[in-house]
Amino acid sequence: MNNFEFKNPTKIIFGKDKIANLAKEIPANAKILMLYGGGSIKSNGIYDQVKKSISAFEVVEFGGIPANPEYAVLLEALQIIKTQKITFLLAIGGGSVIDGTKFLSAAAVYEGETPWEILTGGKPILKGMPFGAVLTLPATGSEMNSGFVLTRKETKEKLASGGPALYPQFSILDPQVVSSIPQKQIANGLADAFTHVLEQYMTYPSDSLLQDRFAESILQTLVEVAPAILKNASDYNAASNFMWSCTMALNGLIGQGVPQDWAVHMMGHELTALFGIDHARTLAIIAPSHYRYNIETKKEKLAQYAERVWGVTEGTTEEKAKAGIDKTEDFFHSLGIKTKLSEYTSDYSGTAEIVSKRFTDRGWLGLGEHRKLAPADAAKIIEMSY
Ligand code: NZQ
Ligand code: ZN
Repeated sequence: MNNFEFKNPTKIIFGKDKIANLAKEIPANAKILMLYGGGSIKSNGIYDQVKKSISAFEVVEFGGIPANPEYAVLLEALQIIKTQKITFLLAIGGGSVIDGTKFLSAAAVYEGETPWEILTGGKPILKGMPFGAVLTLPATGSEMNSGFVLTRKETKEKLASGGPALYPQFSILDPQVVSSIPQKQIANGLADAFTHVLEQYMTYPSDSLLQDRFAESILQTLVEVAPAILKNASDYNAASNFMWSCTMALNGLIGQGVPQDWAVHMMGHELTALFGIDHARTLAIIAPSHYRYNIETKKEKLAQYAERVWGVTEGTTEEKAKAGIDKTEDFFHSLGIKTKLSEYTSDYSGTAEIVSKRFTDRGWLGLGEHRKLAPADAAKIIEMSY
């Protein structure tokens, strides 16, 4: 096991009707900017619950943050923060709204020339305006981590950043919010969280027994709960397990002391930037090819995963590893998620070369847990995903 230091300061307030507790978590006299997405919170009642809870505060609203939060839209919110002297940010949404809020937290106190540098500077964010979140869509884990991903349509870029200042002060997780989520987004949440675990697990054995079991238990829980939550989004028990699994998949805990990969996300982000494909679906496109391409270096963990998560007991290590990859792809299909790029766009030819050039230009010359996956390897993996 590698050395590690772990601190996650986000307070989680989990459970039925917990949105009513929101006001207690916000500093007295705060001037709040309430941020949300395209309007789902207005039709499912979450907006009313939040407004009621924070009625004693001075609140300014900013709605319309799109899925894959867009830089240009967030700059409008930044303007409001500055002109209206906002002191606290409140995100009501899924990963996109929470990520957008994290960017704003950093941008509000940023002293450099242009806030896009926050994404390209390669430096951890150490200062930010305080913020909290009400999670409306389990998927990304953004509610309990310090990372964020922003899209810039103008340049077809999607880049990640983050740092210790960007943990939410609190996040409210009421599983009842799941009842209004369309099936497609629930499937996305399951696939995204599943892949978050894989990125921190599907590497090489590192004698990190507890982290392995944490990871496998989250994967098993997602597999177990998927049919129930897809069948009935109002199933509170299924929603609770789904929600907490998504948070635990990417709040830092399972990744401590272990090698991590993240190449699937790096390639996936490019597919969203180029084609607008939902984040989780890009992962389902890339992951099977990534594991097939890297089977030599990942086969021990793939076989362990096949055995422990999918109950594959027959065959050699390599055969089990291959079965594990097939099971993963089957799992995505069982969620109604297609796993080939050509099933999402007819415009895919040349994608491999574009992405590999972008990685080269950015100096991303060695991805994966061994830092050996060159842009040319990424091109081959993407081609396998066509
Ligand atoms: O915009 P509204 O109208 O609110 O609708 C949203 C949106 O269209 C809808 N929705 C959310 N909660 C709902 C609901 N509809 C009905 N009922 C509810 N309760 O769902 C749609 C998708 O929302 P979005 O926030 O975009 O989804 P998700 O949570 O999957 O976030 C995706 C973004 O997070 C980034 C992704 O790259 C992508 O930009 N990620 C962030 C990570 C992080 N911060 O750690 C890690 C991830 O790997 C990921 O990259
Ligand atoms: Zn993800």
